[in-house]
Amino acid sequence: MPPGTSILDALIANDVFVSYDCQRGECGNCYTTVLAGQPVHRDVCLTPAMREQGMCICVSWAAAPGRLLLEL
Ligand code: FES
Repeated sequence: MPPGTSILDALIANDVFVSYDCQRGECGNCYTTVLAGQPVHRDVCLTPAMREQGMCICVSWAAAPGRLLLEL
């Protein structure tokens, strides 16, 4: 995947089923549980409590340098 590809787009390109809608970090439909790693949250819809457990994979990514382990 080229730099700048969202996690959501990478999953879709690899035929992984994921729920999504707005693709702008507004609806929370793509909310995914984070099992390990530190996300950089770029959504505008999650509460602080939700951000403790997961992330919106359409707009958020891993804090650098780092990896994320997601529950898909
Ligand atoms: S698809 Fe709406 S927040 Fe990700």
